[in-house]
Amino acid sequence: MVQRTGKKLLDCVRGYVDDVPPMWIMRQAGRYLPEYREVRASTKGFLDLCYTPEKAIEVTLQPLRRFDLDAAILFSDILVIPDALGQNVRFEQGEGPVLEPIENAEDLAKLEVSKVLDHLNPVLETVKGLRSSLDENKTLIGFCGAPWTVATYMLGGRGSPDQAKARLFALAEPELFQQLMDMLVEASAEYLLAQFDAGADVVQIFESWALNLDEVNFQNFVVNPTVKLVEKIRAVRPDAPLIGFPRGAAAMVPGYIKATGVNAVGLDYAMPLEFAREHISPLATVQGNLDPLRLVSGGKQMLDRVDQILEAFEGRPHIFNLGHGIVPQTPIAHVEALVNHVKGR
Ligand code: CP3
Repeated sequence: MVQRTGKKLLDCVRGYVDDVPPMWIMRQAGRYLPEYREVRASTKGFLDLCYTPEKAIEVTLQPLRRFDLDAAILFSDILVIPDALGQNVRFEQGEGPVLEPIENAEDLAKLEVSKVLDHLNPVLETVKGLRSSLDENKTLIGFCGAPWTVATYMLGGRGSPDQAKARLFALAEPELFQQLMDMLVEASAEYLLAQFDAGADVVQIFESWALNLDEVNFQNFVVNPTVKLVEKIRAVRPDAPLIGFPRGAAAMVPGYIKATGVNAVGLDYAMPLEFAREHISPLATVQGNLDPLRLVSGGKQMLDRVDQILEAFEGRPHIFNLGHGIVPQTPIAHVEALVNHVKGR
């Protein structure tokens, strides 16, 4: 095993155990913070915030000023990749992302992988700036969306409860789908490697739409492309620390870990702790998995559940986190209570 770095969260990803688990909060920079809303209001649009290093650095650091978290996560979005490939991406107030959907070979032909790194240079500048402003013991997390999750937005044009449009396209147009996935694997590998070069300690691969897939589609849409992505990264950086987050993959998580070789895996809040203890924790560091709505509601029900999660993974490599992103209506006092409880104060 490699030596400890002193960055608690990075060390935990690599399998080291501490008495107090390191923690961060998925989507920790965002609208539940008034100081985020202020910076956001000063930008033309959400993507401008992602592409203005000075502002992106500021909002990345905001949650660490308030809470004793062990990591900063680069402020950006998974949909900067379709934007960089040349697809039209917009973020509508109160509506979430809206993309001009990819529907045929012509739409696909307009996308260009060769443009991606140039376009995303401001994001890489943000990573560099963060590296130099973060304390030594804090881990810097970079990220991208996994190819399938990004493809669901590119094909569907927006989020939906079941991503049916993308699932149908993948089945009806397997060749075009494969071309798109290969492009995403290529672009994401280059992007993550560039994030490591710029100073990221670890990267998380967000597979937010691993749910709703039968086992064959899970293998083809989620596992195989992620295996290729990991291979491309590890060909250049054999020790690259990676966190996978296959949300909703349930009993398919152990297979995902074995196939991809990620060091750590994010557990969504529907994952039973006993299943995770028996079948997942022996294979990788686990991260999670408090229901974000328990954090909204706060109080005893939240702290009791936090204790169950902490006890389930005691003595094993565990990063405390939510089981999905924090939501805008979360009271800041509840986040403080959560962090103090996990840190045992
Ligand atoms: O602290 C952080 O984690 C900040 C960086 C970050 C954002 N998005 C900022 C953001 C990260 C890691 C993401 C990941 C992301 N983006 C995912 C994967 C995680 C997940 O939640 O499943 C997905 C699916 C997206 C795509 C996306 N971006 C959606 C669906 C939305 C709209 C929903 C929403 O939360 O508003 C976004 C917009 C977005 N990305 C916001 C933020 C802070 C809110 C937009 C705003 O401030 O105007």
